[in-house]
Amino acid sequence: MIVRPAGRSDFGFLADMLVEAVNWSPEWKRKSRRRVLAAPNTAHYLAGWPLEDDLGVVAESSGEPVGAAWLRFFSAEAPGYGFVAADVPELTIGVVASWRGRGVGRALLAGVEASARGCGIGRISLSVERKNFARELYLAVGYEVVGRGVDSDTMVKVL
Ligand SMILES: CC(C)(COP(=O)(O)OP(=O)(O)OC[C@H]1O[C@@H](n2cnc3c(N)ncnc32)[C@H](O)[C@@H]1OP(=O)(O)O)[C@@H](O)C(=O)NCCC(=O)NCCS
Repeated sequence: MIVRPAGRSDFGFLADMLVEAVNWSPEWKRKSRRRVLAAPNTAHYLAGWPLEDDLGVVAESSGEPVGAAWLRFFSAEAPGYGFVAADVPELTIGVVASWRGRGVGRALLAGVEASARGCGIGRISLSVERKNFARELYLAVGYEVVGRGVDSDTMVKVL
């Protein structure tokens, strides 16, 4: 498996991974790709990809994408779920279901953090539901809880 920078042509795959991130819980009714890409609160994680300051990575195995992670800056006027400040981009991550639990997520987090450091980004934020095991993964790689919602936490990693 390799981790490479995400480009313009990865939009479709990133959209697939956004759909996976939104539908992380098998207990919920699955939201369609169309709905995820139409609802402003989820669509804005990817709309117009790549914006000038977007930054992302794709994990590939045998030339096939198996996961992606990317960062996008939001404003206080139109924040993401994990917004902390306009100069702190928010992470989205997803791995193809059949590839989960094999280290792809960890590799993506490491890759996107390395790219962010290279761009002078000092912090990354995210929002995660407390029941999602991804929360434990984020804690394990250095994210800290900085805010608590009803069911979710906002986390930040200082790079
Ligand atoms: C969250 C996600 C990106 C993690 O990627 P992944 O490739 O499955 O993660 P990894 O294989 O790198 O595993 C990371 C750690 O989590 C653990 N883990 C993996 N699957 C797990 C599961 N179902 N339950 C509990 N722990 C699990 C692994 O054991 C590993 O720990 P270790 O490195 O100490 O052994 C991926 O599972 C996913 O796409 N989930 C659905 C979308 C989602 O929830 N996105 C995040 C929304 S905030």
